[in-house]
Amino acid sequence: MSIPTTQLGTHGPVVGVQGLGCMGMSEFYGPTDTAEALATLDAALDLGVTLFDTADVYGSGANEELIGPFVRANRDQVVLATKFAIERRADDPTYRGVRNDAAYVRTAVDASLRRLGVDHIDVYYMHRRDPAVPLAESVGAMAELVRAGKVRHLGLSEVTGDELREAYAVHPIAALQSEWSIFSRDVEQTAVPAAAELGIAFVPYSPLGRGFLTGAFAAAEQLSADDYRRHHPQFSGPNAAGNAALVAPIQKIAAGRGVSAAQIALAWVHQRAEVHGLTVVPIPGTRKRTRLAENTAAATLVLTSAELAELEPIAGHVAGNRYADMTFTSAGRE
Ligand SMILES: NC(=O)c1ccc[n+]([C@@H]2O[C@H](COP(=O)([O-])OP(=O)(O)OC[C@H]3O[C@@H](n4cnc5c(N)ncnc54)[C@H](OP(=O)(O)O)[C@@H]3O)[C@@H](O)[C@H]2O)c1
Repeated sequence: MSIPTTQLGTHGPVVGVQGLGCMGMSEFYGPTDTAEALATLDAALDLGVTLFDTADVYGSGANEELIGPFVRANRDQVVLATKFAIERRADDPTYRGVRNDAAYVRTAVDASLRRLGVDHIDVYYMHRRDPAVPLAESVGAMAELVRAGKVRHLGLSEVTGDELREAYAVHPIAALQSEWSIFSRDVEQTAVPAAAELGIAFVPYSPLGRGFLTGAFAAAEQLSADDYRRHHPQFSGPNAAGNAALVAPIQKIAAGRGVSAAQIALAWVHQRAEVHGLTVVPIPGTRKRTRLAENTAAATLVLTSAELAELEPIAGHVAGNRYADMTFTSAGRE
């Protein structure tokens, strides 16, 4: 059975109501299995998932290279989203720089097109904002890519409501991709209302709280040594135990409905978006077909108002920030 479709904002393409985050297929969340990852991409398309999310920074280009052959083989069905702006250094795995200047935008898009092996990107996001560069410059450069045919639609990630309005005045924006989940709701302050006002779709990333909301792990120590989440403020040190206890109501509701906690977390973002009056297309990340099937089955799950009320207070009790460096997020500039 295919999931329903929706339009990715007033100016965007029609997509399945749930996308697929491909990041973990190359890096960050433990060991990767290329054969299973590629099978998961094919299975996603069979289930009606059409929005595939990557970025130049995932695996330092490896994630774009991984999904490239799949995208090319299914170019008419796939809505390809990638991102620029985060720079890394080969000699320092922890380094993250942000580049938004026009010259960088022009170089980055050509590098992504080359790695993906395609002639255009469907949704091109600015991954992070460097406040020192005027949005008129960065979004202006992105708009030039649309005119040149290299990019079809524009997106932004982790910008505030005011920044979204400023960017939109330069060129229509199809989608805002930021973290939004039962645990992380700061975007509801300004970014979500601005997106609703402008007819921009919201693409919630980490809708499963990077796996934590599913109960797959309860503390950073349970993750492999190279797992990026070992340093996450909400999963490590004294914050982990209290935050794991906050997952209990999600699991209780899931057990009562005979579904999984992941499915409850995904249904929650859809219904929270309805409250705010905007379109959402969450992009849960998975490397496995079994989890993909579970996640897409949540696309039609509807929570009761009593269940939503039980989930409502959770975010207010979460200990620790959603990033070690909050200047990396929209909340850090609000
Ligand atoms: N714009 C940005 O700044 C930004 C930041 C982060 C991520 N993203 C994008 O958003 C996507 C999703 O975010 P995310 O990967 O950080 O977090 P997420 O979707 O909240 O969680 C992914 C984690 O949950 C696990 N998982 C998935 N489905 C599950 C299920 N049904 N039951 C139990 N565990 C499950 C996955 O493991 P398995 O692989 O083992 O299933 C993975 O470890 C990424 O892939 C990436 O494309 C964007």
